[in-house]
Amino acid sequence: MNTHNAIRLVSLLSIWMLAAQGQIFQPQLAPANFLGRITSNTVILQQPYCVFTQTCPGCEIWLVAALSTGTGNFNALVNISSPISLSVSPYPTAFLPSSAQFFLTRVGPLANFPCNTAPAFPYFTVGADGICTGINCNGVLPVGSIVSFRYLLIDPSNYTVVNMTNWGGPFNLTTLLSYQTINDGLSARSGAMVVITTLLCVAVALLLLVFFIMLCVSCCGKKDGKTVTVMSSIRIPRYDTHNLKEHVHPYDNQAYEPDAKNYSRSQTLPKSPVRK
Ligand SMILES: *[C@@H]1O[C@H](CO)[C@@H](O)[C@H](O)[C@H]1NC(C)=O
Ligand SMILES: *[C@@H]1O[C@H](CO)[C@@H](O)[C@H](O)[C@H]1NC(C)=O
Ligand SMILES: *[C@@H]1O[C@H](CO)[C@@H](O)[C@H](O)[C@H]1NC(C)=O
Ligand SMILES: *[C@@H]1O[C@H](CO)[C@@H](O)[C@H](O)[C@H]1NC(C)=O
Repeated sequence: MNTHNAIRLVSLLSIWMLAAQGQIFQPQLAPANFLGRITSNTVILQQPYCVFTQTCPGCEIWLVAALSTGTGNFNALVNISSPISLSVSPYPTAFLPSSAQFFLTRVGPLANFPCNTAPAFPYFTVGADGICTGINCNGVLPVGSIVSFRYLLIDPSNYTVVNMTNWGGPFNLTTLLSYQTINDGLSARSGAMVVITTLLCVAVALLLLVFFIMLCVSCCGKKDGKTVTVMSSIRIPRYDTHNLKEHVHPYDNQAYEPDAKNYSRSQTLPKSPVRK
């Protein structure tokens, strides 16, 4: 017996063992390294390949998604080889407080889940339809709830439950941080953030201080001869005071008398001497 035949025998054996376990099979999560296998409102399960092995032409595989009280409600409704109403707990209202706390959604025809193929993506995402309104749509689960799953084999000609797996779970969905618990107080700020904010405040204060000092120096600075600080301002030693009728015109600007000797007439306005 070559290795090829040995591998074939081993895989046949494992398929036979899986089939024998059919009734105790329960839905399993996708492998642990699978990104997003449990979110706050969705779950990724392994599909029921080679789980229902009886010949059942035209039969379909369905999934029951239930909260803890929903599993009991569903069990009370369903026996193998008795009919079921697929609209028994329609999706959009299934998880209202007064509802049955489970919903049914179609996974696919039994013929799509044989034993002898290795599918590329053998997973089923519960909640893949998002927020939906169809009675049996694959809608999202209540956020942060604890859910269990069960596969059904259904004969759609008379809605008989031909067979079903055990319940898989319960699985805890992840809980989102509620808006009220998000800490936006000072304790939530990192030390580095506080230091940077403080440094920025000090820098702005220093900048303002330097600005005011410069303003002060330029306005009230000593006019000691050559280092006069009123930069490039126009000096008007003589002008007409139109509002002061009794004054002699033009008026000599006394403010510039002390340093008048430092300026030639060409640096002042009016440029030419104006005398009465
Ligand atoms: C359900 O499926 C299992 C595994 O295929 C099988 O052993 C069992 O007989 C089936 N039950 C019914 C009622 O068909
Ligand atoms: C399921 O079986 C139990 C007893 O085995 C019976 O009391 C119940 O009425 C059955 N339910 C349905 C929906 O057939
Ligand atoms: C449902 O239909 C299938 C074939 O279509 C039949 O074998 C089975 O006995 C029916 N079940 C019931 C409960 O009528
Ligand atoms: C799931 O939630 C229940 C109730 O909150 C808790 O008792 C249980 O330990 C949780 N299980 C896991 C695996 O976190």
